[in-house]
Amino acid sequence: MYFNYFWLRDNCVTSWDSSTQERTFDILDESDDLHATSAWLDNESLDIIWSDGFESRYDLHWLERWHKGENHGDLAVRVRKTWYGDHYSDMARFNYDDVMLNPASVADWAEAMLDEGVALIQHMPNSDEGLKTLCELFGTVRPSFSGYTFDVKSKANPENLAYTSKALELHTDLPAEELAPGIQFLHCRVNDAQGGNSLFVDATAVANALKQQHPKYFKILTEYEVPYRYTTDYQDVRTKQRIIELDPNNGEVSGINFSQHLADVFDFSQREMDTFYPAFRKFGQMLQYSQYLMTFRLNAGECIVFDNHRIAHGRESFEKGSGARHLRGCYVDRGDLRSVYRVLRARYSKAKVTAPLQPSLEM
Ligand code: OGA
Ligand code: ZN
Repeated sequence: MYFNYFWLRDNCVTSWDSSTQERTFDILDESDDLHATSAWLDNESLDIIWSDGFESRYDLHWLERWHKGENHGDLAVRVRKTWYGDHYSDMARFNYDDVMLNPASVADWAEAMLDEGVALIQHMPNSDEGLKTLCELFGTVRPSFSGYTFDVKSKANPENLAYTSKALELHTDLPAEELAPGIQFLHCRVNDAQGGNSLFVDATAVANALKQQHPKYFKILTEYEVPYRYTTDYQDVRTKQRIIELDPNNGEVSGINFSQHLADVFDFSQREMDTFYPAFRKFGQMLQYSQYLMTFRLNAGECIVFDNHRIAHGRESFEKGSGARHLRGCYVDRGDLRSVYRVLRARYSKAKVTAPLQPSLEM
């Protein structure tokens, strides 16, 4: 196995502060020709005496792990389970009281978020505080250009299509932001309107199908930088995003940025439009195919929590004046979710799924 001298010296066990676990050693201060003057194997360790006389000891299993690329063995790097239009009955469900009281249930919830990208929290309190306490289980609420939270209700002068009774096409929220929000919470406080069913799609399933069926389109959507823009009287937020995002850990499709409401005028050359539009249109059409589309009614007291980079969501139109409808939303970062998962899963193993009791044949 080959190991670089700077890497070895930088990662000596003495490099870290024992209480904060932060690196306090400064590799920048070492001489350019840092090298080992002697090195030997001692049972389970490699000992090195460095050119400045410092001595380091390395556990051989630890070295082997890094050599193999196993790194820290990140619990949060998991294989995504794609789902389809019939997912509603299988969707992971948790009770508010349960996750508030049991960290083991939070670990299970976080695992469902990593694997499936969506979960339903039931029996929510009918209060602003309920949403806040729920999302603080994953992290700090991260503001967006709509503030810390947002209320989806129809308004007299809406600044946003969501605040009307019109249908919302499948989209991910706020791709006009440089770091589009990660995990989205939508807490249904009231839903007495006629219509307004929720639409959810696992866009990784659709993107994987696009990759198989139209590999050229897939490649285009992972490469083109698409402009998004959100404007109000006092805001002009713009950025560019790739429609399909790939996971740098394993090259898998990790998510999408897709919103026709917030798409700006595409600024590629007109020849590139000939290449881009067919790919964009095919992918957008496939998102709407019924095989991928989970349609359901979100009820008062439920909070749907989903990965805003992976799950496209929308709603059907509802009848104006037919009844009140109010969803309150907020976001946390995906990094917060992964952090919570690493810490909790290391402490609590997954709750055992017990098989339902078989009725006894003998009476
Ligand atoms: C939104 C949104 C869903 C709904 O406001 O961005 O997706 O059901 N709302 O109103
Ligand atoms: Zn939305």
